[in-house]
Amino acid sequence: MGYKIFEGSLILLSLLLFTSLAAADITSEKQALLAFASAVYHGNKLNWDLNISSCLWHGVTCSPDRSRISALRVPAAGLIGAIPTNTLGRLVSLQVLSLRSNRLSGSIPSDITSLPSLQSIFLQDNELSGDLPSFFSPTLNTIDLSYNSFTGQIPASLQNLTQLSTLNLSKNSLSGPIPNLKLPSLRQLNLSNNELNGSIPPFLQIFSNSSFLGNPGLCGPPLAECSLPSPTSSPESSLPPPAALPHRGKKVGTGSIIAAAVGGSAVFLLAAAVFVACFSKRKEKKDEVVDNNGKGVDNARIEKRKEQVSSGVQMAEKNKLVFLDGCSYNFDLEDLLRASAEVLGKGSYGTAYKAILEDGTIVVVKRLKDVVAGKKEFEQQMELIGRVGKHANLVPLRAYYYSKDEKLVVYEYVATGSFSAMLHGIKGIAEKTALDWNTRMKIILGTAHGIAHIHSEGGSKLTHGNIKSTNVLLDQDHSPYVSDYGLGALMSFPVSTSRVVVGYRAPEAIESRKFTHKSDVYSFGVLLMEMLTGKAPLQSQGQDDVVDLPRWVHSVVREEWTAEVFDVELMKYLNIEDELVQMLQLAMACTSRSPDRRPTMAQVISVIEELRQSAPESRESSNENGCRESNPPSA
Ligand SMILES: *[C@@H]1O[C@H](CO)[C@@H](O)[C@H](O)[C@H]1NC(C)=O
Ligand SMILES: *[C@@H]1O[C@H](CO)[C@@H](O)[C@H](O)[C@H]1NC(C)=O
Ligand SMILES: *[C@@H]1O[C@H](CO)[C@@H](O)[C@H](O)[C@H]1NC(C)=O
Ligand SMILES: *[C@@H]1O[C@H](CO)[C@@H](O)[C@H](O)[C@H]1NC(C)=O
Ligand SMILES: *[C@@H]1O[C@H](CO)[C@@H](O)[C@H](O)[C@H]1NC(C)=O
Ligand SMILES: *[C@@H]1O[C@H](CO)[C@@H](O)[C@H](O)[C@H]1NC(C)=O
Repeated sequence: MGYKIFEGSLILLSLLLFTSLAAADITSEKQALLAFASAVYHGNKLNWDLNISSCLWHGVTCSPDRSRISALRVPAAGLIGAIPTNTLGRLVSLQVLSLRSNRLSGSIPSDITSLPSLQSIFLQDNELSGDLPSFFSPTLNTIDLSYNSFTGQIPASLQNLTQLSTLNLSKNSLSGPIPNLKLPSLRQLNLSNNELNGSIPPFLQIFSNSSFLGNPGLCGPPLAECSLPSPTSSPESSLPPPAALPHRGKKVGTGSIIAAAVGGSAVFLLAAAVFVACFSKRKEKKDEVVDNNGKGVDNARIEKRKEQVSSGVQMAEKNKLVFLDGCSYNFDLEDLLRASAEVLGKGSYGTAYKAILEDGTIVVVKRLKDVVAGKKEFEQQMELIGRVGKHANLVPLRAYYYSKDEKLVVYEYVATGSFSAMLHGIKGIAEKTALDWNTRMKIILGTAHGIAHIHSEGGSKLTHGNIKSTNVLLDQDHSPYVSDYGLGALMSFPVSTSRVVVGYRAPEAIESRKFTHKSDVYSFGVLLMEMLTGKAPLQSQGQDDVVDLPRWVHSVVREEWTAEVFDVELMKYLNIEDELVQMLQLAMACTSRSPDRRPTMAQVISVIEELRQSAPESRESSNENGCRESNPPSA
């Protein structure tokens, strides 16, 4: 009897132990997935809600007893960024990993390829780079790493993968010899389009030449004999041949365009109220700003707030508005806080207000959030930005304010609107504006001049860091003024900001979290594509796929030149095909994955200026709808 009871409780005990262990496993794997999700940009694609079982998450498959994650399949979900080690590498029972057709960059952590049960890994069509991991789990039977940017040699350790049946490493930049692989299970092999050299090892000669083509240095069966000079087909150039002109009317999956939700709503409110609320928030939390229209704030309240401002400001000792030299404004912080303000928009660095001072001066005030720089560093950067900003195509910085709780930058106000608003309109507020070719070229050229000036005057320390069409402001003549430059250095790097911002970011900038002149060139290239195609930088195609503009353009162009890559608006103009194509090539060069292949801003300018000079004088609109009211291009 006692024995029976003992046995029963032992079973119960082990059952309990087992379930709690299983729960611990699945919980830690859930954490691993969340760590991955927080490290890469994923828009709102992954509905990985903490409150529901991870076995029900998008792309996640669990073992039958739901104690382990056995497969992760998240293809074409617009994932951007590097996969950190110790995230997916903690999914110890993973058998299938498919993250193909995203924009994952950086190297593959070897804790993933060595997962003990891994059978298939599909990472093709990403932006992964670096060496291939040297350790792969011997359980692997399918490896597809094609269409990435891997470099270095094919690891000899693949010889250990006795179960491997499919190996696709094509379309990378792998170099050196092919290791002498004798893999009994290998059925499908593709090493084409790399930079491999030497002779093809005997056991791989059974595969057809299509497994090896596109490696100019490779020889031996099934390719040409080694003794003969191998026919060096020209290495893949980053620019398509100029002879390949667009054909009209070829198929293209245009896809719906994500409307760039920019601009925000134009709510009027008192800057004073906003700032005071902030200055005195510790003292007076409950006295919130309730007036959203800015019409009925009673005077008593304003007076009260004003006092608080003054005392708050005094408390902040020497912290006052610092004007940069060359600035002729005559107002102080209090004037600024008293000004009426209109929210211009919420950007990646903070909210911008248009402030109208009592004397009628209009300035743009930006409240910076997430500033990590100390006071000294902040001041130095402001001086630098102020000095560099004296250029016809840059919005000049006029003043700044730094205190522990509040960081403000004050810019000159540029009327009219942004390039983004003209190209795409503002959802629910403004329609897009028809922009003719000359105007677009003028805007692009001016923008390039502005950015080039930042690079040449600021040296390697200063980058723009936030080039996008909402930061290209236009006056009535459509002259462009670039804004928001140089602030990135003061901020913590925004990991997953809006989809729009991420669409402009160079792959290496996302990875290294650092902006460089070359990452600016990439963003400029995206802007150029936006101008040419009329499309937003990240667009969704159908339900699942999120495709970014550079990728879309590169793929359309790779398939076949097609006029439909261009904005239909531009199809109205005669004789600009040549210019369109050359500008598209420039944009593609600017968005090369490899920073070294991108031109400098100075080179970009000389290409555009040369194009403009050789452009036919007679290039005009072929329609009569008044599109060509704008000025001739600036020289
Ligand atoms: C998750 O659950 C907690 C409490 O159980 C709740 O407070 C929270 O709002 C839930 N979160 C979501 C996203 O549903
Ligand atoms: C193959 O695996 C064995 C042990 O499993 C290891 O000692 C050896 O170094 C591996 N070979 C390569 C080329 O990595
Ligand atoms: C890689 O090669 C395998 C076998 O040749 C093939 O099934 C697979 O579709 C290829 N992957 C891509 C992205 O072409
Ligand atoms: C292959 O290329 C490397 C440089 O990339 C070179 O050092 C090596 O000699 C080449 N090998 C053969 C067999 O051509
Ligand atoms: C590849 O092999 C096929 C026949 O198997 C041949 O017709 C073709 O010309 C070869 N291609 C190259 C580039 O050698
Ligand atoms: C290998 O990949 C290339 C693309 O890089 C493709 O054209 C070729 O057909 C593939 N060959 C095989 C055998 O799958």
